Amino acid sequence: MAQLDSKVSLLDISLRPFEESDLEDYVIIMSDNTVSKFCSWNPMGKEEALNDLLRVIYTHPWFRAICVKDRPIGYILVNQGKGSDGCRGEIGYVVGSAYWGQGIATHAVKMVISSIFSELQGLERLEALIDVDNLRSQRVAEKIGFIREGVLRKYWILNGTPRDMVIYSLLKTDTPVRMCWGF
Ligand SMILES: CC(C)(COP(=O)(O)OP(=O)(O)OC[C@H]1O[C@@H](n2cnc3c(N)ncnc32)[C@H](O)[C@@H]1OP(=O)(O)O)[C@@H](O)C(=O)NCCC(=O)NCCS
Repeated sequence: MAQLDSKVSLLDISLRPFEESDLEDYVIIMSDNTVSKFCSWNPMGKEEALNDLLRVIYTHPWFRAICVKDRPIGYILVNQGKGSDGCRGEIGYVVGSAYWGQGIATHAVKMVISSIFSELQGLERLEALIDVDNLRSQRVAEKIGFIREGVLRKYWILNGTPRDMVIYSLLKTDTPVRMCWGF
């Protein structure tokens, strides 16, 4: 498959569900240990990535490929709580390391935010939980207008070590911030 140019125009970015034919591009994202450094998964080989992709395609309620010219270069997901937790959802985003620093994650999160509160019934609050040392990801949340609520101490285990997480939120009613999104 032809290689994509790593310099991207934000106009070429779209979000769509993954398909099995995206495996090659999914492997590129999921096999990169620069990308997985602050993530809950370890770098994957082709077979593991295929199993993961099939799980995503067939079981995840809200998981989208971040595409450039319809080719996946990352992904973005929202996990909405169930029952009495249904008012909140957690957002996660990943961009292939060849494409970092061009505003792609920020653009993709903005695209999600423009519709997610009407798309997911009952959603009032979007959260992002970000490792305390993942400054790049924190910057994405802050650029969009997520509010930094605090630090959850020793909240999860990364490579065997308990880690602190910064918790951010954006509410459906955060209208003044939403007006700055430029959509
Ligand atoms: C986090 C991630 C999605 C960001 O993607 P991206 O497309 O590079 O993000 P953007 O270009 O939209 O924004 C990155 C911002 O971080 C800034 N940044 C980069 N390195 C930084 C650092 N060490 N400290 C602080 N800010 C930093 C960039 O300058 C940019 O901000 P700016 O526009 O004000 O200059 C990407 O790095 C990634 O996939 N990382 C691995 C997976 C991950 O950690 N996901 C988040 C899990 S919560």
